[in-house]
Amino acid sequence: MASTGKPDILSTNVFHSEKQGVTEDKPDDLQKTVDIVVQTWKLVNQDALKHGTVFYKRLFTTHPGVVELFSFSSEVKENMDESSGLENQAYLLMAMIDYAVSQLGNLDELIPKLKDLGATHFVKYQAKPEHFKPVGESLLWTLKEGLGELFTPEVEKAWTSIYTILSDVMIEGGKAALDDGSV
Ligand code: HEM
Repeated sequence: MASTGKPDILSTNVFHSEKQGVTEDKPDDLQKTVDIVVQTWKLVNQDALKHGTVFYKRLFTTHPGVVELFSFSSEVKENMDESSGLENQAYLLMAMIDYAVSQLGNLDELIPKLKDLGATHFVKYQAKPEHFKPVGESLLWTLKEGLGELFTPEVEKAWTSIYTILSDVMIEGGKAALDDGSV
């Protein structure tokens, strides 16, 4: 699907499921949701290291069991504030979200990338569908911290919708990879 400048989640039914969020909105609302996410992400991504670090510290503090999945878990357990592994991972996560946000108008490219990422997560990193909830909560918490008063209920709703889409596609890719034994 060629990029027309308009997010093509407006013109495709690929995400039309019974789930709540973007899929229930009218096209104008969808456009607004994408605009809000793009604009607020620009602000937070200006300091990717800071906010990416906030994200992982929040995730590892609220869900300590998740730390074990990460290759730098011993660093985190020793001193989370000085883990270079955590910092590297913060950059990688922020770059991936930045890419995904930038490609909401280019789903033909974005969806396979997210499915591949999901496959790697499930097969290589032992991520599970239930991990996506704490990750989503930590992301929302990070956005709230980063945006301050700009984090309105409307912004929260927009990000919840987009995160649900991203994670649903990753989970789909992950489950398919586990089923057919590939990454
Ligand atoms: C929207 C959701 C997520 C995004 C965008 C994301 C993004 C990434 C990226 C970009 C990497 C770098 C390596 C690679 O590209 O394969 C990575 C690694 C990783 N992610 Fe995620 N991730 C997400 C959700 C999760 C969840 C739910 C878990 C489960 C707790 C998880 C656990 C991991 C682990 C364990 C690694 C490997 C890090 C290491 O040990 O070096 N991620 N993730």
